[in-house]
Amino acid sequence: MLLIIDDDIAVQTSLSLLFRKEGFAVRIADGPFETREVLEQETPEAILLDMNFSVDTSGDDGIRLLRYIRERLPNVPVLLITGWGSIDLAVQGMKAGANDFITKPWQNDHLVQSVQTAIKLAGATRHPGEDVSASRRQLDSQFQFDNIVGEDPRLLDVLSTIGRVAPTDAPVLITGESGTGKELIAEAIHQNSRRKRQPFVKVNLGGISSTLFESELFGHVRGAFTDAKTDRIGRFELANRGSIFLDEIGDLDAASQVKLLRVLQDRTFEPLGSSKTRTVDVRVICATNRNLEDMVSLGTFREDLFYRINLITVRLPALRERPADIPRLVNFFTDNLKILYGRPNLQVSKDAQHWLKDLSLPGNIRQLKNVVERAVLLAPGDTLTVADFEKHLPTNPQPATPSPALPPVGSMTLDQMERQMIERAMAYHHNRVGHVARALGITRFALYRRLEKYGIAYSTDE
Ligand SMILES: Nc1ncnc2c1ncn2[C@@H]1O[C@H](COP(=O)(O)OP(=O)(O)O)[C@@H](O)[C@H]1O
Ligand SMILES: [Mg+2]
Repeated sequence: MLLIIDDDIAVQTSLSLLFRKEGFAVRIADGPFETREVLEQETPEAILLDMNFSVDTSGDDGIRLLRYIRERLPNVPVLLITGWGSIDLAVQGMKAGANDFITKPWQNDHLVQSVQTAIKLAGATRHPGEDVSASRRQLDSQFQFDNIVGEDPRLLDVLSTIGRVAPTDAPVLITGESGTGKELIAEAIHQNSRRKRQPFVKVNLGGISSTLFESELFGHVRGAFTDAKTDRIGRFELANRGSIFLDEIGDLDAASQVKLLRVLQDRTFEPLGSSKTRTVDVRVICATNRNLEDMVSLGTFREDLFYRINLITVRLPALRERPADIPRLVNFFTDNLKILYGRPNLQVSKDAQHWLKDLSLPGNIRQLKNVVERAVLLAPGDTLTVADFEKHLPTNPQPATPSPALPPVGSMTLDQMERQMIERAMAYHHNRVGHVARALGITRFALYRRLEKYGIAYSTDE
């Protein structure tokens, strides 16, 4: 049974006709009182809740009713119907546990599809104590997640959340340390969305200056600045009708934050040097390894921008929080790479799988993948042993080169030490700024600042 909560007779009639035609049993409730009555008799498969069902257009009644439903029936999907332009209500509603929202005027097939998806997904939510692999299998049967390995409950929660929100246009914020799979998750959101056949455009905002930011994201016209020899289309326009992935959003300076806020608010912008306003239809996915909440309270990240991008937040666990997934990841990488490198008989020994679990890998899955890749490429035999992996751990100091003693106190300032570390890391990583920043555990932006400070030469194209 589908429960429709709305007080507008015209809407009640057209919705119940539509869903009866699709084979649903339909019940109608005019407001909170009737809703309670229905729920006492029957449990619906899904609920459609019009947020503006009462005279009180603030939507407070809708939110209150939604909370009541959530508490009483935590597993029944609730889809909100909101008026156009009341995205804030949808935001509040999604935070209060709604499964999706539809804006008026809706398209019938889209609405039916959203309800059907929500019902299917509701079956996929995990219940405490349930067999983990079973819930992983269930997720896999509903979404395209084949390239995302893991059975850790935190990862499965992330997957079920992104599965739930992928079909909507809700912005998603992905947080987690470097190398935990943020970009992979962003791609999965796009791939499981209605926009999957449209562009997925990635932008790395790390260390980008505010002028560069503008021309990169919004484009420019010829002559907008000295080097602007031709017109250039910005990333937002390239992403039109698809999704844009704004990586390292915590690195944006204040001026760029303002400019981004505007396009997120009303989907409009002007290319640099042009006065013609463009409008785009873009789904926004952001990622950062920083704690934006802290940055908001410190005043380095705008609260209004934060509010825009974090409608849905997912946090990816660090690899050390999910050691049981390490053997699964190692086998997955080995299986893929052995084909690529023409070594079909390669296998990872049980000892090695066990040993890899206890490693501390600050670079998380990215680092694990690198280690496996080198082992697959260079191991002499068909069975990968502990020794085959151990060789490729960058954190393991080679016995031949003992770590240098620290210089005596007073012989060097902190700045001088920092400079030396950066120069060594630049040499080691062949001036690849991304690698160096990761190795030193700082953002690209922070690295650029220091490179400038110490006058160390670098290039920004990698
Ligand atoms: N759960 C996972 N299963 C398989 N590969 C993964 C997983 N998470 C991350 N990876 C791989 O690890 C590498 C780093 O992931 P990425 O998404 O770039 O991390 P981040 O953006 O958080 O730094 C990529 O090669 C990615 O494909
Ligand atoms: Mg990344």
